[in-house]
Amino acid sequence: MKEILWDIPDIGEEEKNAVIDAISNNNIGANGPNIKKLENEINLKFGVKHTVAVCNGTMALIAGLMALKEYLGKEIKIAVPSFSFIASANACSLVGEAILIDCDLKTWNINKSNLPDNIDAIMPVDVGGLPVDYDDILSLGLPVIADSAEAAGGKYKNSYIGSQADIHCFSLHRAKIITSGEGGLITTNNTELYDIISSIINHGYKKDRKPWEYKHNRLGMNCRMTDIAAAIARVQLKKLDFYVNERKKKADIYKKNLPKSVIFQEINENSSHPYFFFGILIKKDIDEICQKALNEKIYFKTWAPAHKQGHFYGKMGKFPNTDLISSSLLLLPIHNKISENEILQVCEFLDKNL
Ligand SMILES: Cc1ncc(COP(=O)(O)O)c(C=O)c1O
Repeated sequence: MKEILWDIPDIGEEEKNAVIDAISNNNIGANGPNIKKLENEINLKFGVKHTVAVCNGTMALIAGLMALKEYLGKEIKIAVPSFSFIASANACSLVGEAILIDCDLKTWNINKSNLPDNIDAIMPVDVGGLPVDYDDILSLGLPVIADSAEAAGGKYKNSYIGSQADIHCFSLHRAKIITSGEGGLITTNNTELYDIISSIINHGYKKDRKPWEYKHNRLGMNCRMTDIAAAIARVQLKKLDFYVNERKKKADIYKKNLPKSVIFQEINENSSHPYFFFGILIKKDIDEICQKALNEKIYFKTWAPAHKQGHFYGKMGKFPNTDLISSSLLLLPIHNKISENEILQVCEFLDKNL
């Protein structure tokens, strides 16, 4: 029986040729033309003023938070959902103080009612790609840096995600809807933040330094994307709408064919889900089901929230919704290459075993 993997990137001839082209022109570092071109193409596609391409989504979050901290001119406490991939909470803890918060039982995202007092900024996460209700979050008037790592191609009120919050951070990891192998993007409409971010991701360089100078304005890192990665990302970006439309059809096949007992992530009315992941809540033991599926070469994933993991374990608060969701959540395969037949096989497996 053929394996049904959780993630397979869709890399073809066009990506290969773009890489060969970059290498043939000696553009193996962050020196080539593809990076600027990618940033401009993202600006146009996502309807945002500035994009900074970086080496991965985690560094996008860290650099974005460092820039926000400098912009606000103080130490920052950031509200961040426990229910996310660990990078969201880690980034907040590395740059400021992470205040873990619970999520909504239906959308699995955070909303205004989850937020405590005494925070300086909010990091909402578009969980699985589903955009949070940005109007609701922004109505508090606090700075918002969104972890949109999974949300490329998602829309809020018919606009692509990327321009709603003060800063959005995306991942182009190999499992994501579009990929550059490893890679990330930071988008913002705020030119001051853009200038700070551009400097932080490149050793804190002074903006208007002369080409022969090594002059640095602030603490910085090397989070630069390579031209090779940008070349791949540019090809993938052209396919973003196609991938998202296909993923929506695949999600519909799941919704029609899964047993009636499973619970789906509820989509708020202003958000369009690009389906980075397709999650279901089940009543059976999730580890047992994952092991049974693995025996049949079907790969599922589960998500442990931050407050149940090493660094954050037991440190703060109660998270009843997060506990309920994460203890019954199965993430089903929904990558760009999965066929209808494979999805039906997954449904058949779950029909037999739930
Ligand atoms: C919600 C979320 N945040 C952050 C990241 C980190 O991105 P990366 O793996 O590109 O560092 C990911 C993806 O892995 C993610 O899913």
